[in-house]
Amino acid sequence: MKILLFGGAGQLGWELTKRAVDLEFEVVSPVLTEVDITEHDQVSRVVKSVRPDVVINCAAYTAVDKAEEEVDLCFRINRDGAFNIADACKAADSRFIHISTDYVFDGLLGRPLREDDPSNPLSVYGRSKWEGEERVRDVLGNDALIVRTQALYGQKGVNFVHTMLKLFAERDVVKVVDDQWVSPTWAGWLAEVLLDCSRIQAGGTLHASCEGTVSWYDFASEIRSQSAAHFEGRKRATVERTTASTLNRPAPRPTFSAFDTTKITNLLGRPPVRWKDALGVFLQEIGVA
Ligand SMILES: NC(=O)c1ccc[n+]([C@@H]2O[C@H](COP(=O)([O-])OP(=O)(O)OC[C@H]3O[C@@H](n4cnc5c(N)ncnc54)[C@H](OP(=O)(O)O)[C@@H]3O)[C@@H](O)[C@H]2O)c1
Repeated sequence: MKILLFGGAGQLGWELTKRAVDLEFEVVSPVLTEVDITEHDQVSRVVKSVRPDVVINCAAYTAVDKAEEEVDLCFRINRDGAFNIADACKAADSRFIHISTDYVFDGLLGRPLREDDPSNPLSVYGRSKWEGEERVRDVLGNDALIVRTQALYGQKGVNFVHTMLKLFAERDVVKVVDDQWVSPTWAGWLAEVLLDCSRIQAGGTLHASCEGTVSWYDFASEIRSQSAAHFEGRKRATVERTTASTLNRPAPRPTFSAFDTTKITNLLGRPPVRWKDALGVFLQEIGVA
């Protein structure tokens, strides 16, 4: 099976490429300097020439706070880029798996979010991702699979786990938000899910996160606990609670964005991995557990 992957050098794309190659998928993954997804012609040309069975879009503008200023760029990549790929897939009759985010929700429902719950993005990034989803649905309807995920961490790039490990080594105290809840999701697990989805004719929208929900404070505390041996005999900051309003970041985040994982459990025939177990595997993989 041949996969055309956009965003292969990013956090999720890197994990996906690694696993796809191990499982003997054929992967073609142009980098940004070869194909810019905001350029309709470039995207059409590559889809036409590669003739993939599946196109997976992990490319995105992901600088959530910076997006509040770089509005146009963010929408060009996350909305127009998604449209360009969907349009090329329609013309080439290729399947399309597009990645989206929990930031399309405000997280105020106070219960795990289902795929058809109403969206209400709070930030520029969230709005751009929602409009990207809508463009994909306009072009391909339920033939496209839109996979929403959240709180991703993997080997490459900047993410919460890498940031915490760095701050534990540098500081005495690390303050972490305790009034926003997520399901931390290992990009390695999600990559395997995306490959499973490539093999089956899944369409529509799918919520894909690891199982279990915690505040960012609890997530940080678990990272600290699971990496204790790595810090033995060295400085290791303590973790203290703070609030989102104290931190006052430019882009508002959803309050409670756990996903209802009924659909993915039924689709794959297994529940998502538990977040603490996934974190353990990841920390071992990067040599800190
Ligand atoms: N990270 C999270 O916590 C999180 C949570 C929920 C959903 N998601 C979604 O998951 C997906 C993957 O996220 P990620 O964390 O892997 O992102 P990432 O590490 O920022 O990677 C994004 C990739 O997109 C590429 N890219 C950016 N603009 C492009 C363009 N115009 N044309 C082609 N490629 C372009 C980047 O290339 P360069 O490296 O060259 O810039 C990078 O390789 C995204 O759809 C994101 O919205 C992420």
